[in-house]
Amino acid sequence: MQVDILTLFPKMVSGIFSESILGRAVEKSLIRVNLHDIRDWSTDKHRRVDDRPFGGGAGMLMAPQPVFDAIEAVRGDDTVDEIIYLCPDGEPLTNTLARELSQKKRIILLSGHYEGIDQRIRDTLITREVSIGDYVLTNGTIAAAVLVDCIARQIPGVLGEENSLTSDSFNANLLSFPQYTRPEVFRGMPVPPVLLSGNHAAIKRWRHEQQLKKTQERRPDLLSKDI
Ligand code: ADE
Repeated sequence: MQVDILTLFPKMVSGIFSESILGRAVEKSLIRVNLHDIRDWSTDKHRRVDDRPFGGGAGMLMAPQPVFDAIEAVRGDDTVDEIIYLCPDGEPLTNTLARELSQKKRIILLSGHYEGIDQRIRDTLITREVSIGDYVLTNGTIAAAVLVDCIARQIPGVLGEENSLTSDSFNANLLSFPQYTRPEVFRGMPVPPVLLSGNHAAIKRWRHEQQLKKTQERRPDLLSKDI
């Protein structure tokens, strides 16, 4: 899959795509990530990309010209499956959404800055709007990187063990169970005996109970959601 990220701050996230699991996915060509600086398409002599909102109000808006030109140039004549704008008022990012997007061949991500972007960009170019949570970041660049990370780990071959996905938090609407490694006792704290029992059915049952307990305590809303 190919992802093009349009942002005013490509350097903010460039390192992320060459490190760890994401870096290996890029190396193995399971995902290709291109970062583009929207300012490169500004026709202003000072490379400005923002302007004051009509009707007044605080802050500056990203103007249509650089964004339209950037998206059209990056898209070229190819078909693009989605052009996604990262913003706090978009649809919430979930593993389900990331899984759906991981099946696409080509997506373009637009990261906003200032108080937002001219509505005409949203009305005509953008096919989908995504929020990474109910809080506001200084700009959408980190949000785009979060979305790419979340999508990439759903692509077959990106995670070492395919199983890692099934023991994830949110799989089957449950949070993850507690995990332990050696030593069996650390600073007086023992590992739950069931995990050392070798009884796979009992371990499975215990893990499921732990998932239910944690989900009930922390995210009871998940238990009433459709799977
Ligand atoms: N830009 C600023 N805040 C954001 C959020 N929560 N999600 C996506 N993009 C954003």
